[in-house]
Amino acid sequence: MTSRPAPTDHPILDHLRQRWSTFAFEPRPLPPGELRSLFEAARWAASSFNEQPWHFLVAARDQEDEFARMLSCLVEVNQAWAQNASALVLSVTRLGFTRDGKPNAMARHDLGLATGQLTIEAVSRGLAVHPMGGIVPDRIRELYGIPEGFEPVTGLAIGFAATAESLSEELRRREMAERVRRPQRDFVFGGSWEQPAELD
Ligand SMILES: Cc1cc2nc3c(=O)[nH]c(=O)nc-3n(C[C@H](O)[C@H](O)[C@H](O)COP(=O)(O)O)c2cc1C
Repeated sequence: MTSRPAPTDHPILDHLRQRWSTFAFEPRPLPPGELRSLFEAARWAASSFNEQPWHFLVAARDQEDEFARMLSCLVEVNQAWAQNASALVLSVTRLGFTRDGKPNAMARHDLGLATGQLTIEAVSRGLAVHPMGGIVPDRIRELYGIPEGFEPVTGLAIGFAATAESLSEELRRREMAERVRRPQRDFVFGGSWEQPAELD
């Protein structure tokens, strides 16, 4: 398996450093229990008013028809590599509060936080998660009967990272590209907007 640890400026948890969005997956099933643990990690995320707006649709690789159906909900460029994942997930959030139906401004935030926890749990188990905004929401709504008030947000490809050799030239280039991030001074402010925070 390839390793592409983040070249961090400050120390962070190893599982955060080791996470990256691989395009190369080994096409094999997950051991039993793994997906349940990933969703358990999502389940224990914090959420505004403990609303837990997150929902997930899942298809494991060995459920061949279900896996193909879910793959068809991704845009074609994502299908090309995600077809090798061990499992596919579609994330869906409830947009309103359960108690009064009023809009929950934190609905996508909380889904994202739960997805982050799922992702890091996966890394801790030697798995990789590649998130995708490139999904076809109308197709997901139709195929899975998503009710009004719920929104498909992302797809996730989950599996075992493979070496880049299995990839097309274009994907190999993207897989091997330098990992870059904006520096903290561009987004951690103190005193006023765009004033870099003075931290030890
Ligand atoms: C919400 C979201 C949507 C994304 N959509 C796609 C996508 O449709 N296709 C894709 O190849 N990568 C997608 N990515 C992966 C990003 O390109 C990737 O996270 C980013 O380049 C940083 O790379 P890293 O995750 O390896 O650190 C998405 C990531 C997120 C968080």
